Amino acid sequence: MLIKKQTGIEIPPSQITPEHIYRSRRRFMQGAAALSATALLAACGPQGNTAVTDAPRGRAATTGDEGKEPGQVAAATDELGDSLTKYQDIITYNNYYEFTTDKQTVSFMAADLRTSPWQVEVGGLVRNPGVYDIDDLRAQFDQEERIYRLRCVEAWSMVIPWIGFPLHKLLAAVEPLAAATHVRFETLYDPEQMPGQKSSWFDWPYVEGLRLDEAQHDLTLLATGLYGKDLLPQNGAPLRLVVPWKYGFKSIKSIVKIDLVETQPTSLWMASAPNEYGFYANVNPEAPHPRWSQASERRIGELGRRETLKFNGYEAQVASLYNGEDLRENF
Ligand code: MTE
Repeated sequence: MLIKKQTGIEIPPSQITPEHIYRSRRRFMQGAAALSATALLAACGPQGNTAVTDAPRGRAATTGDEGKEPGQVAAATDELGDSLTKYQDIITYNNYYEFTTDKQTVSFMAADLRTSPWQVEVGGLVRNPGVYDIDDLRAQFDQEERIYRLRCVEAWSMVIPWIGFPLHKLLAAVEPLAAATHVRFETLYDPEQMPGQKSSWFDWPYVEGLRLDEAQHDLTLLATGLYGKDLLPQNGAPLRLVVPWKYGFKSIKSIVKIDLVETQPTSLWMASAPNEYGFYANVNPEAPHPRWSQASERRIGELGRRETLKFNGYEAQVASLYNGEDLRENF
């Protein structure tokens, strides 16, 4: 069941990147492809103020008519009054390294990913392990709309109306054992479908993790759709994590495995560049990345930059999870 509060939405006009800027960006990205894995997120990363946005140029989505138009959403803004990011931008400006490091090519590269049938194995330290079909997950857990800010570690951001269900509902169904302290997530490993996985830059598959209390927080979502429609492959279809107070790389896409474990999982990014990407990855404007500031961000579709908010604006809801912890040490 889909829970919606209201219908109708007005989206502000997006800025279109002129062709010459797009072309120079493509040359830049080709150069970035030659860099080491540890430099990659940075290479795709932050830029200064710019007269144009770095958003896509309104190219058609990848999967035919169904991808091109947004569905209905409940509100035009998030709870801070920030406008939703344009649907076209959300589905054509993506990070999905299993396909390519070029954000503006992901939607094409990922278009043929087979997302049905799809099963998710939930196990480890639980009383009721199980293999869930994606359709069963949709049917068993009420689908609700959640409008969240997504803040990439590269210092760009969006406001996205997700559809999904809180992870804690699934966790309650499998009943974590007392020994479980963390949750480990894994993306599909299929180099034939995901050519980026043929590269040895990363230790595939993409892995992410949360502390159990973070995973059980009501904000933590398993998303199945956005803008009133099923997720497209480029956004992590058919099931992805969304943890809005953490940098976007924690929000792992196309999940096939969820395990309750008794030690802190090592994520793909921690393994690749432990000095740059920590386990916690809480959005923190006071803790710069070793190679750039995290004090401000570029909202896709807007001119200029805006200040980054602690915990991405969700401080009131999540700060108590980290009482007494050094957020610079636990970065
Ligand atoms: N999940 C997988 N499996 N592979 C990835 O490359 N990129 C992450 C995250 N999840 C990534 C992933 C990063 S760096 C970001 S910012 C978000 O996905 C981007 O999500 P979006 O493309 O839907 O905006």
